[in-house]
Amino acid sequence: METFECIKSRRSKRKFLAKEVPDDLIGKIIETGKCAPSSHDCQPWQFYIIRDKKLKGKFAETGYEENKPIVLSCDFILLICVDKDKSPSRFVEDGVIAAQNMALAIHALGLGSVYLSAYNPDDSLRAKEIQDLFSIPENNMPICMLLIGYPDPNEKLENKILRDNNDLIEYR
Ligand SMILES: Cc1cc2nc3c(=O)[nH]c(=O)nc-3n(C[C@H](O)[C@H](O)[C@H](O)COP(=O)(O)O)c2cc1C
Repeated sequence: METFECIKSRRSKRKFLAKEVPDDLIGKIIETGKCAPSSHDCQPWQFYIIRDKKLKGKFAETGYEENKPIVLSCDFILLICVDKDKSPSRFVEDGVIAAQNMALAIHALGLGSVYLSAYNPDDSLRAKEIQDLFSIPENNMPICMLLIGYPDPNEKLENKILRDNNDLIEYR
């Protein structure tokens, strides 16, 4: 898929088919995450693939109620963590920028995803809860996650109205 088309046509997907994403596609997704820019090129990521139904079920019980059915229907959760020993002050940016690379790659591969936050500066307990649930070492800070699967073609997406360039750009 052409780059501009990929960026412009990506949408969050919240309904997935009961079909497993093969490992080679997961590998391709990860390839694009690790190409992302990172502070001082520290490449501080650790990516966790969570497919175990019990773990997904436990996770679905935490966080926002409206996310529960999405978590249960996705094929796997890709949890993006950043090693705070490698990236002590830029860990959020380092994590999110890799996630967006992967969200675009997921779309280009004909898969779908939706972004969920894991790190919340106002709620340090949320990241700890995720670390405990998925047995993540303390230095690996959960930043965000992508719920991934083959998109259900019957999902009705809400119409999205983009802001006008003139409203977004200011020249100085
Ligand atoms: C920081 C952040 C947090 C988000 N959290 C959720 C969430 O908890 N549940 C959800 O369904 N979507 C979540 N989303 C997805 C947004 O709702 C979605 O990107 C937005 O509505 C725009 O739609 P689009 O992705 O189809 O362009 C989140 C996105 C971001 C960037």
